[in-house]
Amino acid sequence: MEQNLRQLSQRVERELESLKSSAELEALRVRILGKKGELTAMLKALGGLPPQERPRMGALINDERQRLTARMDEAQARLQAAERLAAIQSETIDVTEPRPLPRMGSEHPITLVMNELIDCFSGMGFEVMEGPEVELDHYNFELMNLPKNHPARDAQDTFYMDDNIVLRTHTSPMQARAMLTRKPPIRIICPGRVYRADEVDATHSPVFHQMEGLVVDEHVRMSDLRGTLEAFAKKLYGPTVEIRFRPSFFPFTEPSAEVDLTCTACHGKGCGVCKGTGWVEVLGCGMVNPKVLDMCGIDSARYSGFAFGIGLERIAMKRYGIRDMRLLFEGDARLLGQLR
Ligand code: DAH
Repeated sequence: MEQNLRQLSQRVERELESLKSSAELEALRVRILGKKGELTAMLKALGGLPPQERPRMGALINDERQRLTARMDEAQARLQAAERLAAIQSETIDVTEPRPLPRMGSEHPITLVMNELIDCFSGMGFEVMEGPEVELDHYNFELMNLPKNHPARDAQDTFYMDDNIVLRTHTSPMQARAMLTRKPPIRIICPGRVYRADEVDATHSPVFHQMEGLVVDEHVRMSDLRGTLEAFAKKLYGPTVEIRFRPSFFPFTEPSAEVDLTCTACHGKGCGVCKGTGWVEVLGCGMVNPKVLDMCGIDSARYSGFAFGIGLERIAMKRYGIRDMRLLFEGDARLLGQLR
C-alpha cells in the first residue's frame, strides 16, 4: 500500500505539471481527494491492514492528503491568475484603433438653395421676414387683389381650413404683412412652404417652397427689378447665365412678367430639362399693383414697388440636375446626401 501511495503521489505531481485550466484541476481534485477519490479509497482500505500497521499507514496517507491539497491550491492560484490575465488581454480595447466614421447627416437641397438665395439677397440689402403657413384668406387673396369669386383664384387650387382660413397658396401674402407693419423703404425676402391641392407628379407636389421678394420705396422702377434679378441669376449660376422677361399676368402686379434663365444643363442649346427651348422658367414678378399698395396702407401716389416669387424646387432641380421633383420629398438620405 505504501508503494501504491508513492506511485499515486508521483502520478498526481506529473498531472499537476501538465494542467491547462482550472477546470482540469478541479476534475483532478475530485478524482484524487473527492468522496470517491483514489486517496479517499486508500483511507477506506486501511481497515484491511493488520492492526499494527494501520496507525503508520494512516498517518502517511493523511500527510500526503495535506501535501496534495496544498499543491493543488498552489496550482489553482497559478492557473486562475493566468486565466484572468488572458481574459484581460483578449478583452483589451485599443483606444488608438481607427473606427468607421459615423454617417453624417446633410442639409436638404431645398435648405441649401434657400440659404444660398438668402445670402445673395442679404448682400443686396434685403431682410428675411417669415410668416404663417396657415393664413387668412384676407391676406392670401383679398389684399393680393384676388377678391372672392375672382376667376384667377382657380389658378391656385386651395386647401381651405374654413371659409376664412387657408393653407397659403403662395408667399405673396407676406407682401401685405410687410406693407401693413413697416414703412418704406421696404426690402424683404420671405422664404417658406406653400400648399396647393395638386396631384403628385414629376413637377407637382401639394407642398413646395417659394421665396417672395418685395421692394417698396420712392422711384422704384422696372429696371430696378430687372437689375436685381439679373444680379441674383449671375450670383447663383455664374456670369454667363442670361435672363429673359416674358409678359404675364398676376393680379397683384402690373405690369407682370415671368422670368426665364438660360438652361444650365444645355447652355441654351435645348435639351430635355428645358423641353428644347433653351430656357427654364424660375419666377414670376412685376411692379406692385397700385391697388395693392393702397389696400395695404401705402400711398401709391408717392411710392412704387416691385415684387417677385421664386419657386425653390425649380431652382434646386436646375441646380442639381434632378428631373423628378418627388426625389426632393421622398427623403432618401442616400440620394440627398450626394447633393451639396
Ligand atoms: N405668387 C405667384 C405664384 O405663386 C408668384 C409671383 C408672381 C409672386 C409675381 C410675385 C410676383 O411676387 O410679383 O404663382
